[in-house]
Parts: sequence; structure tokens; C-alpha cells
Amino acid sequence: MTDLSTSYLGLQLRSPIVASASPLTRDLEFVQRLEAAGAGAVVLPSLFEEEILHEEVSLNRSLEAGSEHFAEALDYFPAIDDFADAGDRYIADLERIKASTSLPIIASLNATSAGGWTRYASLIQEAGADALELNLYRVAADPTRSAAEMEAVDLDVVAAVRSEVSIPLAVKLSPYYSALANFAARVVAVGAAGLVLFNRFYQPDLDLETFDVVPRVELSSQWELRLPMRWIAILRPQLGPGVGLAATSGISRGTDVVKAAMVGADVAMMTSAILRHGAEHVAVAETELREWMTDHDYTSISELRGSAHHETSGDPSAFERANYMRTLHSWSAPSS
Ligand SMILES: Cc1cc2nc3c(=O)[nH]c(=O)nc-3n(C[C@H](O)[C@H](O)[C@H](O)COP(=O)(O)O)c2cc1C
Repeated sequence: MTDLSTSYLGLQLRSPIVASASPLTRDLEFVQRLEAAGAGAVVLPSLFEEEILHEEVSLNRSLEAGSEHFAEALDYFPAIDDFADAGDRYIADLERIKASTSLPIIASLNATSAGGWTRYASLIQEAGADALELNLYRVAADPTRSAAEMEAVDLDVVAAVRSEVSIPLAVKLSPYYSALANFAARVVAVGAAGLVLFNRFYQPDLDLETFDVVPRVELSSQWELRLPMRWIAILRPQLGPGVGLAATSGISRGTDVVKAAMVGADVAMMTSAILRHGAEHVAVAETELREWMTDHDYTSISELRGSAHHETSGDPSAFERANYMRTLHSWSAPSS
């Protein structure tokens, strides 16, 4: 029997196929379907720093307004229930899911600055999350701020969240750091037990009739796995076996999970494929994974993991340049 078990962030998972963050992973019934389909773990959608702050500001304004007019203030109290804020709703959903499933649950926070909101990390821990994923999603559009400054802020956020919790912390990175290998190592040094590679940036479109910016969520295509694959291959030997690495983007088939494991990922995360085909797609991908492993004489994920990373090429940068040249030179014009 093929052994699919894997360890990620110190958690023992039955399978490397993890349902990554999406609106559906917060729905108890959907999470139960993911569990039945054999998912190794589930990542909840992110609670955003802005959501917590926005609702706290609203609540404070209401309380302050009330205190100026005592009679009216009494009227405010019933309304305060309505302020069961985004954070409280998130914690309630997490508790409900933890109480009704035995899947490892990874909660997610999305933030760009250290601040009071980080206490939600400890509320998430108290609510029973097995681990926490911190999503650093930012577009570096300020021309007065250097890469070093931006990185320092991100590291402060990681350190601030790390200091709030004892559960393992993973950090979901964008691929746009200019010195990614260095930054990845520093994220680990300030306390991340693992890295999730990569955040997909949602690129808005323009509506040519209304001239409006249109937010578009495009589900991913399989070729998008190549970027995380390349970086996991580079980072696995640099970071060592003790750091959790999760591949996310373009993972749809069991063979994509094979590729992610081969370059050194501990888990392969899936969102678009699940949104397209439903929770049961996890079982389909698992069957494909088992078939591939049987056909190629692999008996366990640990045997497969890292069988194709950059350790054999002493200088990953030179290796990448050589491959780039080879790729460009391999193009031949279509015959007309
Ligand atoms: C509709 C939708 C909502 C998402 N919400 C979140 C989120 O709340 N937090 C997060 O870290 N990633 C979120 N993601 C990103 C996914 O977790 C995943 O990293 C990304 O879609 C790439 O994986 P895929 O190719 O399997 O879709 C979302 C993706 C989609 C499509």
C-alpha cells in the first residue's frame, strides 16, 4: 500500500493534498466533504488586518458617540451585538469546524503591518487552529520605499504574529521579492516553521465601456505550478528538511502533486481545481497520485520528496541562467 502521509509544520497529515484558502473552506459542510475526500488539511480563508481594524474603528465610534448622549447611549447597546465583528465571526467559524471535523485546520491572517490586530493570532490559537498561515499580500507601489524597508516591515509582521502564538506559523509569500532566497531564510529566522509559495496576485482588468477597474478572480492554469516548483527546488536544500514547504498555484492533477513533492514540497495545495470540480476532486487527484507512484515504484511520499531539487547543481543562479539560455535557443520558427 502506498504511504501518502507527510509532515508539514510539525503536523502529521494523511495526504500531501491540502485544500488551500478559499471562501469555501470556511463552510463546515464543505470542509466535511474535503475530509471525506481525503484532504490532508484545510486552510481557512484569510482574516484581513483591514477587516479587523475597520470594524474596531466603527465600534469605537459608536461607543464614543453614545457616551456623549447618555440617553441615546442605551440605544446603542442592542446594536453592539450587530458588531459581532469580522474577527469574532471568523473565530466562531473556526471553532465550529474544529468541533465537527478531525482534519488539521490551518487558519489564515492577511496583513501588511504589525499592530494591535495581531492579538487575533492568539484568539485563533485558543479557538483550536492547528497552525496559522500568515499571508503577506502587498503591491510595492511606493517609489520612496526601498526593497530593504519593505522587507523589514514584513519581517516585523512575521515576528509580531510569531510572538502571539505557540502553534506553528507558515508564511505565504509573493514571488516578487528581489532577493527571494535571502528573504525566505530571514522569514524562517524570525520564526516561520514553513513557507507557502506563492501568493497569486489578482490582476484587475479595465471595462472599456464604463472605464471602471474590474476586479477579476481568474482560476489558475496548470502551467502556473512552474514558478513555485522552481523556487521550492532552489529553497529546499538551502532551508533544509526541517522547514515546511507548501506549493500553491496550478495544482490540479495527481501528477502535479508528484511534481511538487519531487522538488521538495511537503504538501501540494489546491484551490482552483476544488472550486472548479468540487471537494471530491481531492479524491480524484489522490487516485492519480497513487497510480503514478505505483507505476513508478514509489512506495511513499517521503521517498519521492526532493528527488529532483537543486542540491545537485552547486550554483542555482548559474543553473537557472544556463537553462534560460537553453530554453531560448531551443525555440524554432514554425514552418510556414
Ligand atoms: C476565490 C479565491 C479566494 C481566495 N482567498 C484566499 C484567501 O483568503 N487567503 C489566501 O491566502 N489565499 C486565497 N486564495 C488563494 C489560494 O489559496 C491559492 O493560493 C491560489 O488560488 C493558488 O492556488 P490554485 O492554483 O490551486 O488556485 C484565494 C483564491 C481564490 C481563487
